[in-house]
Amino acid sequence: MISEVVDLLRCPHCASELTCTDRVVSCAGPHRFDLARQGQLNLLSNAAPANADTAEMVAARLDHLGHGFHDQVRDLLTTRAGRVVLDAGCGPGWYLAGLSDDHRAIGLDLSAAAARRAARLPRTGIVVTDLRRGWPVADRSVDTVWSIFAPRNRSETARVLRPGGELVVVLPAPDHLDELRAAGAVIGLQPDKEQTIAEQFADWQPIRRDTVRVEIERPDPAFVATAVAMGPSAHHRTTTATVDRLTLSLVVRAFRPEGEPA
Ligand SMILES: C[S@@+](CC[C@H](N)C(=O)[O-])C[C@H]1O[C@@H](n2cnc3c(N)ncnc32)[C@H](O)[C@@H]1O
Repeated sequence: MISEVVDLLRCPHCASELTCTDRVVSCAGPHRFDLARQGQLNLLSNAAPANADTAEMVAARLDHLGHGFHDQVRDLLTTRAGRVVLDAGCGPGWYLAGLSDDHRAIGLDLSAAAARRAARLPRTGIVVTDLRRGWPVADRSVDTVWSIFAPRNRSETARVLRPGGELVVVLPAPDHLDELRAAGAVIGLQPDKEQTIAEQFADWQPIRRDTVRVEIERPDPAFVATAVAMGPSAHHRTTTATVDRLTLSLVVRAFRPEGEPA
C-alpha cells in the first residue's frame, strides 16, 4: 500500500512531501494523483511503452520464479537487505515478496501489468514510472536499492541511498540460459555485461560478489517455456525449444557510493 511508504515518496513534479488519503496522493503544492484500483501509483500519462513487460510476460515470470531455482538468489538479497528497500524494475515483486515483516519497500516499474501484481504486497508501495527519469523518492531515505535484470540509474540511486546504504545488482552471467541461446529461442546476451556495470560504478566501493549457478537436467518443458516467455525475447520471438539441460547462471554484485563507510 502506498500509504505505508508515503513518507518516503516525493512529488514527481515539485519534490515536496506527499500525503495519502483514501485513494488519492497529494503534495503540499497543487499536485494530486489518483491511485489505481489495486493501490499502485501510476505516474505514466501514456500507454505502456514497448519495453514494459506485458501481462503474459508477468504471468510467465511468476511461474518461472516459483519453481524454486531462484530461491537462493532471493535469499542472498533479502537476508542482506536494510530496513527500507527500493526495487528498481521490480516486475511483479517476486523478490520483494521474500522480505520479512521488518522491512518496508518501494517498487518502481514501467509495466502497469507487473505493478498490478506487485501492488498486492504488504508494507510495499508500487509506483509505475520510468527508471531513466527522476525517481519520486526522498533523498537519503532508502537502505538498499535492488536492480535485478533491470535498467540502472546511477545518479538517482546515489541520491536516494542513506549513508551506508548499498546498491545490489543481479545480472546474467555469460552462460545464463546457454542452451536456449544455442537453440535460437532467446536473444543474445551482452557478453561483457558485468564489466560494463563494474565500469559504470568504478568509483563506488565494490562490497560483495556472489554467483549462483544451477544446471537443471531434463528440465520440465513448461519451465523452459516460461524462461523464454518471461524475458525480452518474448518481445521478439514466439518459438520455444526442447532442451536436455538448462543452465541458470547469475551474478550478484553490491556497491556502495564512494566515500560511504564500508
Ligand atoms: C527482466 S524484468 C525483471 C523484473 C524483476 N526485477 C525480476 O527479476 O523479477 C525487467 C523489468 O524492468 C522493467 N523495466 C524495463 N525498462 C524500464 C524502465 N525504463 N523503467 C522502469 N522499469 C523498466 C520491465 O517492465 C520489467 O518489469
